[in-house]
Amino acid sequence: MKTFRRIGVLTSGGDAPGMNAAIRAVTRAALSKGIEVMAIYRGYQGLIDGDVAPLSLRDVSNTINKGGTMLYSARCPEFKTEEGMKKAIATCEKYHIDGIVALGGDGTFRGATDLSMRGIPCVGIPCTIDNDITATDNAIGYDTAMNTVIDNVDKLRDTGESHARCNVVEVMGRDAGDIALSTAIASGATAAVIPEFPFDQDALLNKMQLSRALGKRNFIVIVSEGMGADYGPALAERIDKETGIETRFIRLAHIVRGGNPNLRDRVMATEMGAFAVDCLLEGHSNIVICERHGRIKAKDIRFALILDRIYKNRLKEGDLEGFSQEELEEMHDVAAGKRARMQKLYEIENRVNI
Ligand code: ADP
Ligand code: F6P
Repeated sequence: MKTFRRIGVLTSGGDAPGMNAAIRAVTRAALSKGIEVMAIYRGYQGLIDGDVAPLSLRDVSNTINKGGTMLYSARCPEFKTEEGMKKAIATCEKYHIDGIVALGGDGTFRGATDLSMRGIPCVGIPCTIDNDITATDNAIGYDTAMNTVIDNVDKLRDTGESHARCNVVEVMGRDAGDIALSTAIASGATAAVIPEFPFDQDALLNKMQLSRALGKRNFIVIVSEGMGADYGPALAERIDKETGIETRFIRLAHIVRGGNPNLRDRVMATEMGAFAVDCLLEGHSNIVICERHGRIKAKDIRFALILDRIYKNRLKEGDLEGFSQEELEEMHDVAAGKRARMQKLYEIENRVNI
């Protein structure tokens, strides 16, 4: 089994609240076992450029509560090229980086697979506000991001009530409606518009007119970013014109990605960070740390990436090859479970929020 003297840690793709807590946990868990830790700055770009430096216990002090990522992040197309990969491996050899903990989303995990295949063992930690890694019930940053959304929507509700307005609020999530659906429920929104389910605008307009006639002053409609950039503004305009209810469109955008991580994200990040180090030192590679029904476990990155395709109905030829019957059943169960959960939440949102 490979012996580890030094590991690297990096953050890649979109940042997420709780990344710092995970970096801190990785660093301290490794140091506690006598393993040195190298910070790799700006994700895979820093690995290519050799932008690395040792991390000490004290370097990660006062970070557990901070949003963003102290290692910075970057999108790095060069890493997908043969040339970029060679430079990244050269950095690992030059600085004796024996393994890497990579924090990010599915793109980051694809990069981690490429490195693992080239002999640099990698463990991924899911950090994305989108919560679009189906293999884990929760990704680091998701819970904080949803709380940020409802804080902002509560403020919009105050002014909406004063002026008897409707606020159409677009929230991030890439092509996943997870943030939009849960925050619509939690903010008492009249509707959640998400890519997972067809949406009937006429029915919404009728419902709003009826409610207005019965005295409802303010309305909130949450639209997922995955509906496309023009959808929210066009819906706001339609509501305004066709119902006579004065309507504003608000895009929360990157506000949702910032801010201090909440308790849940800090605890999960700490647990996942320490577990990732243990997995790496035990000889595991090309895995992602997941939370399922409150338990932290490791799954192969390929399992996680193909499970996402099953959930999104985007399977490609040959995707299911190489998996055992048990793994295939597990993937189908998890995907079906997530679909059922989304369906249930969607029905509740429509039933309870008027
Ligand atoms: P996220 O990790 O949040 O999904 P991205 O999709 O932007 O964010 O991916 C982060 C980085 O991971 C990319 O900038 C790139 O360096 C690397 N990456 C993404 N896809 C691949 C891939 N197919 N092969 C190798 N590296 C990849
Ligand atoms: O994946 C996180 C995320 O914030 C998505 O919700 C959003 O679509 C995307 O990243 C925005 O990316 P960027 O920060 O490059 O604008």
